[in-house]
Amino acid sequence: MKNIAIIGSGHVGLVTGACLAEIGNSVICMDDDVKKIESLQKVIMPFYEPDMAEIVQKNVSSARLSFTTSVEEAVVNADIVFICVGTPQKPDGEADLTQVENVAWRVARAMRGYTVIVEKSTVPVKTGGWIKRTIALNNANNADYDIVSNPEFLREGKAVYDFMHPDRIVIGAESERAAQIIRELYKPLKAPVIITNIETSELIKHASNAFLATKISYINAIASICENVGADVEKVAEGMGYDRRIGTDFLNAGIGYGGYCLPKDTAAFIRIAEEAGYDFELLKAVRKINEYQRQQLFYKIKKELWNLNGKTIGILGLSFKPDTDDMREAPAIDIIGRLLEEGVRIKAYDPRAMDNCRAIFPDIEYGKDAYEVAEGSDALVIVTEWDEFKKLDLLKIKSLLQQPIIVDGRNIYEPAQMERLGFIYRRVGR
Ligand SMILES: NC(=O)c1ccc[n+]([C@@H]2O[C@H](COP(=O)([O-])OP(=O)(O)OC[C@H]3O[C@@H](n4cnc5c(N)ncnc54)[C@H](O)[C@@H]3O)[C@@H](O)[C@H]2O)c1
Repeated sequence: MKNIAIIGSGHVGLVTGACLAEIGNSVICMDDDVKKIESLQKVIMPFYEPDMAEIVQKNVSSARLSFTTSVEEAVVNADIVFICVGTPQKPDGEADLTQVENVAWRVARAMRGYTVIVEKSTVPVKTGGWIKRTIALNNANNADYDIVSNPEFLREGKAVYDFMHPDRIVIGAESERAAQIIRELYKPLKAPVIITNIETSELIKHASNAFLATKISYINAIASICENVGADVEKVAEGMGYDRRIGTDFLNAGIGYGGYCLPKDTAAFIRIAEEAGYDFELLKAVRKINEYQRQQLFYKIKKELWNLNGKTIGILGLSFKPDTDDMREAPAIDIIGRLLEEGVRIKAYDPRAMDNCRAIFPDIEYGKDAYEVAEGSDALVIVTEWDEFKKLDLLKIKSLLQQPIIVDGRNIYEPAQMERLGFIYRRVGR
């Protein structure tokens, strides 16, 4: 059992803290967002993540998990401190590391005995060196310490499962002592462990996310070709995916990737490469294809509706992917914004993300379900592939729509069935 402090209790920090408590450690999660910590102390979750509430409740009840706004309280008795704060994108694409630096010096002033400081936030290569320097310059109590890089690979919407069943654990460390402490910590998860130096570990995270983004843009590029030659991208992906060297994951054509990770991490990686003297043209193309995909959805809608001004469009799905309420970099933001510019009246529904969307678009209409959104709309647009949209009563939807038009950015319905039902059904890559 280790005493663990988590600094930054967001999507990564809270999951990490709760899951490390679940496997038997004593964890204190810190955040400087007072409202977030107050609600966590009442076991009210600050965001939706499946299984999260249960695991937090269970570990708070057994006194293995607690919350604070004080770095000092979190760090003073900690054997291991996880840095899980945000690393947002600056306008030029570079990662903004001010939160990481702020945490590094606050931790340095609070730590007492030997402490392993773990960089879990996604950071550019060499950030570990900067953390080390900041800690050395602010080590008020002359504490012994080591820096470790331990990137996180969880997917929002499956975060608890992913943390508990990781494909691999990556540990970048300068000292054998620190590497072994982190290896021991993760032992109950029974995952392959890669131990390397800090720079390699930092690069593994960026290289992985950039590869995933590349896979998505690759199939989206194929989808654009399919649309012009009468081929079906779903079948192309199926045919490719059986090849074990390629695999089926991340080969779903659609309106491209969004969220807090892939867009900012690809931008950051292009900048990291630039600084390392390499022009990462491949990744630049990946980003361009992603932007193009979002625009294409808009043009598909426009093509089906002729004039947009004054039309009503129903948007199904707002979060950047299913099973989360996270709207950061969600394609829905671009698409709704673009349609509003054209004078479209928007009705929207999402099972979880409507509160977050209201903060961005307070003046659009929100429906209580997909049927309310369909009622009187000139077309429906599928933006996020929530399961419940796959199970809709499509005849009822058709009877509620002003015109039987569905533009599907996620390819969730069978074209033949939609044709039989009498829809004009437009999707990606066919
Ligand atoms: N969200 C994901 O799916 C995911 C997956 C893997 C890695 N990551 C990486 O993990 C990091 C965190 O991402 P996230 O999605 O959890 O972000 P988040 O915004 O959900 O959480 C960050 C938290 O840090 C807190 N914070 C900011 N500055 C602080 C400070 N000085 N002291 C204490 N707390 C502070 C914020 O209040 C917030 O609660 C990022 O680098 C991200 O790229 C995210």
